[in-house]
Amino acid sequence: MLKNKKILLGVTGGIAAYKAAYIVRELKRLGADVRVIMTHSATQFITPLTLSTLSQHEVIVSLWPKSTHESTDLGVKHVDLGLWADLTLILPASANTIAKLATGIADNALTSTALSIRCPLLIAPAMDLDMYRHPATQNNIGVLQDRGCIIIEPETGELASGLSGPGRLPELQPILEKIESALAGTQKDLSGVQVLVTAGPTYEKIDPVRFIGNRSSGKMGYAIAKAAVQRGADVTLISGPSSLETPQGVQRIDVESAAEMFGAVQREYERHQFIIMAAAVADFRPASSEKQKIKKTNDRDVPEIKLEQTDDILKFIGDHKDERTVIGFALETENELAHAREKLEKKKLDYIVINNPTREGSGFGSDTNEIQILDKNGKVKEYPLMSKFEAAHKILDCING
Ligand SMILES: Cc1cc2nc3c(=O)[nH]c(=O)nc-3n(C[C@H](O)[C@H](O)[C@H](O)COP(=O)(O)O)c2cc1C
Repeated sequence: MLKNKKILLGVTGGIAAYKAAYIVRELKRLGADVRVIMTHSATQFITPLTLSTLSQHEVIVSLWPKSTHESTDLGVKHVDLGLWADLTLILPASANTIAKLATGIADNALTSTALSIRCPLLIAPAMDLDMYRHPATQNNIGVLQDRGCIIIEPETGELASGLSGPGRLPELQPILEKIESALAGTQKDLSGVQVLVTAGPTYEKIDPVRFIGNRSSGKMGYAIAKAAVQRGADVTLISGPSSLETPQGVQRIDVESAAEMFGAVQREYERHQFIIMAAAVADFRPASSEKQKIKKTNDRDVPEIKLEQTDDILKFIGDHKDERTVIGFALETENELAHAREKLEKKKLDYIVINNPTREGSGFGSDTNEIQILDKNGKVKEYPLMSKFEAAHKILDCING
């Protein structure tokens, strides 16, 4: 997997910077070509000479040529390296560099290159537990994850400060596994394939200001759309109300209600081979909505809202699928497998992705998910807690396997 792969390693100023030497040595042993960029702070912890010797390439620390009056051949190395890399790994990633990456600051060779790369970006935060747990750091990590960066979660254990908690860089093997799985995601195995993804919640109107909605953030569906584009697919994303950015290269159709989503799916499904229904579509909507805002009256009368069923989009697709592969989602809080199996059969799905929002780190709004994938032959694949982006790749691996 790593043979002849071009790995760009960014090293920042953390106590775990010395571990970058082990990573470079191992990547080289496995046949990868490794280039290293260090921040100035990183050079306080490990010398460029060490990483240059191990990688057998010049190590870049500064954006600028040594003398502005002499050679200018360093010119746009940050762009060249960004385009060169098959994968970029920042290890260790300091809280400072993570904050810069989240906001797009490009004030050194590493952060400038990070804006130029077109390959997957893996980030291995390593720091003291309070720095790691700080809301600013957590928020910045969330921003990067939403953007599709793969975060190598730090381990919990004894830290250099003497404190104990999360913040330690994982061992070599789990890091190598992450690199390999990210590289697997760069293969263009979905080239020329049309993928339709639905995502997000639906809003069912009560009156001009009120609606019945649900807590879906859309993150899972958006992650699938992004992963599919990365693998070469032509992707259409039908999205309920969501504040998420449209992944680059994805054609997005915005809808609000279940009825609008049904209309969009009916218009789109025929020209797609894979249909992945990750949206949390309302099962019920108000039978009628008011034209004006429902007023609160002085007496204690409460308006009654009569509900009716929405269209079953998944069932429609199951009934019209022909040669298409259809993947549904089951959000279950108990007897997950039995309920999911029933849904898969009833809706004539090929696969159903099961998640349980009551499990820690899973469900609405979270950046991670613990999924199981059940196929129509009854085979179940279980996955550990992982980022929604990684889970998206697992789903695509499964259907394209
Ligand atoms: C001894 C020492 C150890 C440090 N270890 C870490 C660390 O493990 N993680 C981290 O985020 N910052 C650590 N810092 C702070 C960073 O070096 C500092 O925030 C620096 O500005 C990071 O710059 P860079 O992101 O450009 O590499 C450490 C500082 C010192 C003096």
